[in-house]
Amino acid sequence: MVKLLYPLAILFFSSAALGFIPNCNIPEQGSTLQVIHVNSPCSPFRSKNKLSWEDSVLQMQSEDKERLIYLSSLVAGRSIVPVASGRQVTQNPTYILRAKIGTPPQIFLMAMDTSSDVAWIPCSGCDGCATTSFDTAKSTSFKNLSCGATQCKQVPNPSCESTTCGFNLTYGSSSIAASLVQDTITLATDPIPGFTFGCVSKVTGSSVPAQGLLGLGRGPLSLLSQTQNLYKSTFSYCLPSYKSPNFSGSLRLGPNSQPIRIKYTQLLKNPRRSSLYYVNLEGIKVGNGLVKIPPSAFAHDPNTGSGTVIDSGTVFTRLVEPAYIAVRDEFRRRMGKAVVSSLGGFDTCYTVPITVPTMTFMFSGMNMTLPQDKFIIRSAVGTTSCLAMAAAPDNFNSVLNVIASFQQQNHRILIDTPNSKLGVARETCS
Ligand SMILES: *[C@@H]1O[C@H](CO)[C@@H](O)[C@H](O)[C@H]1NC(C)=O
Ligand SMILES: *[C@@H]1O[C@H](CO)[C@@H](O)[C@H](O)[C@H]1NC(C)=O
Ligand SMILES: *[C@@H]1O[C@H](CO)[C@@H](O)[C@H](O)[C@H]1NC(C)=O
Ligand SMILES: *[C@@H]1O[C@H](CO)[C@@H](O)[C@H](O)[C@H]1NC(C)=O
Repeated sequence: MVKLLYPLAILFFSSAALGFIPNCNIPEQGSTLQVIHVNSPCSPFRSKNKLSWEDSVLQMQSEDKERLIYLSSLVAGRSIVPVASGRQVTQNPTYILRAKIGTPPQIFLMAMDTSSDVAWIPCSGCDGCATTSFDTAKSTSFKNLSCGATQCKQVPNPSCESTTCGFNLTYGSSSIAASLVQDTITLATDPIPGFTFGCVSKVTGSSVPAQGLLGLGRGPLSLLSQTQNLYKSTFSYCLPSYKSPNFSGSLRLGPNSQPIRIKYTQLLKNPRRSSLYYVNLEGIKVGNGLVKIPPSAFAHDPNTGSGTVIDSGTVFTRLVEPAYIAVRDEFRRRMGKAVVSSLGGFDTCYTVPITVPTMTFMFSGMNMTLPQDKFIIRSAVGTTSCLAMAAAPDNFNSVLNVIASFQQQNHRILIDTPNSKLGVARETCS
């Protein structure tokens, strides 16, 4: 990419600054959807304020913190609604995709969330939602589900309002009230009739994706469970580089056209947390050196929910504290006498070139070696670079390691649930 000579040279928006007009409406083919970064020039949700590099990093971190608390609440099996301290924390979706709902179709840019099971969209008359909502009266294929429907037993906190099935859930620091409905959803060119999802009628809080959420977890009501014949509980995604002018990757549903040359590790399951994709992380190398990390930091325990998950909604990888400290200390050791500074939640930043060439996540049966641009975040003017990882937020005892989207850029991640495999291949998706 052209080196920027822009004082507020920023992580995102650089394409707009260069006058690059991306192709925002690539016709989707087969079962492959375009995945757009929320700050892409193609995204209606991108921040209108041009943030400095430091501010955009700080903002991503504060959103990440809330995401981690949310994931940990899933693990703990109870919802923790964190009280946003200081300025309001909004958990933006990181990646969005285009879905068509109803007959005739109404278009929504839904957040893609690999760590949620359910799908929901704001419906007409919703209290507290943004302006775009699904007009149920205009869809000829729309149906309410009754309280007696089997699906009504699979939602969190079901309730019965007159005769329709309602439910409440928390997402980030928000709570959502919805009714359970069915309609056709069309993903790329695949119509899925009678898809069951939540029709949101009330939102409290600010962390709800404006045009709904499509969960790609594997719980009973998830898209994957509802489309087993069509997609065989298999999908892959490639997240674009944060620096790409296109900001666009892809989500490919079903076993067809998946990569053949790909490395696999075992996909683990926590029966109590069906929405999370656990893997077995066994070690981390900084450069060629294996970091000494107590094995307990990686232990997969379905009872406590501890272990390692691959998540697309968290931006920066978070490790449990003993693992993070060990990785960070090894990284600093390799940087020798260079002066360390911090930036927000990043505690290992430098103004000199980073001399650590790679970092490797060692999963059972698979090593994922990352080049610098996947573990170092640098300002475009090149003055500051930080190790783009952190420990769990302060005062928050998380048992979860989260391999996040910054570390997954330009990789295809394949989830093959029937064979309990998770594949990783490098791919320049944009
Ligand atoms: C669905 O339920 C809502 C609220 O209970 C009601 O207003 C609406 O008319 C129902 N729609 C259909 C198609 O049954
Ligand atoms: C769900 O939320 C709605 C709206 O906030 C509230 O009226 C209702 O009592 C809640 N239901 C349950 C089961 O918590
Ligand atoms: C991963 O790397 C380690 C250390 O370099 C090596 O011993 C191991 O065989 C590698 N695993 C695979 C599956 O390639
Ligand atoms: C952006 O997308 C276009 C096609 O839409 C492609 O030709 C181009 O190579 C992409 N650029 C990058 C940097 O990926």
